[in-house]
Amino acid sequence: MHFLITAGPTHEPIDEVRYIGNRSSGRMGVAIAAAAQRAGHGVTLLLGPATVAPPPQCQTIRFRTAEELRTLLLRTAPEADLLVMAAAVADYRPKAMLAGRKIPRGEAMSLELEPVPDLLAEVATTFGAALTLVGFALEEPAALEERARAKVDRKGLDAIVANPLATMDAEGIEGAVILRDGRTLRPPGWPKPLPKEEFATWLVGTLTATFGPTIDAAGPKDLG
Ligand code: CTP
Repeated sequence: MHFLITAGPTHEPIDEVRYIGNRSSGRMGVAIAAAAQRAGHGVTLLLGPATVAPPPQCQTIRFRTAEELRTLLLRTAPEADLLVMAAAVADYRPKAMLAGRKIPRGEAMSLELEPVPDLLAEVATTFGAALTLVGFALEEPAALEERARAKVDRKGLDAIVANPLATMDAEGIEGAVILRDGRTLRPPGWPKPLPKEEFATWLVGTLTATFGPTIDAAGPKDLG
């Protein structure tokens, strides 16, 4: 299969120096890209402004803003079989950027913000019939599963990886996969957090088994 994976935050510029962004190390998405490569899949990684290094030999394209990520998604999605949207897209961006300048520090200032369009929902509308869509949901533990299920419906996804808020910046992940048909798949040992690299290996195996081509164990049929 060909996996398209997004990772890291987006930075929405206020001026030449400052930005609005989400806390995200990019490690989870990069670990998924490495696991998909190890499993023999084709991989394209769209990586935001994070310090984590992409896996060696992985086709990696960098983005900074949500708009740049949107352009890259629309360009690369037609080649992919499955999109894992692990990027932490900023929710709001300044309505206008002060290009080429640094705003001097002074009195109080206010910024006019606009919501960032939902990239996953747009990809679902445009390519959803041909592309398996897997989102991420980061929520308070008490409302996690319920809100993650609502996101599957609202964004038109095939599955979502549900994680509690504590996953952010952490070494481990206590995630589960919720499928559109209502099933929840959990890694062995859940709810004990797994290192992100181990979770990524489990996730790629689970997504391949659930959405990959079915292989007839008896080999190709004799059509003669
Ligand atoms: N996402 C996206 N475009 C956005 C915001 C989020 O594609 N503008 C994607 C994320 O990459 C993730 C999924 O949507 O895969 C869920 O992101 P999350 O921030 O949890 O959801 P929101 O849509 O922002 O919903 P809310 O904050 O209202 O819970």
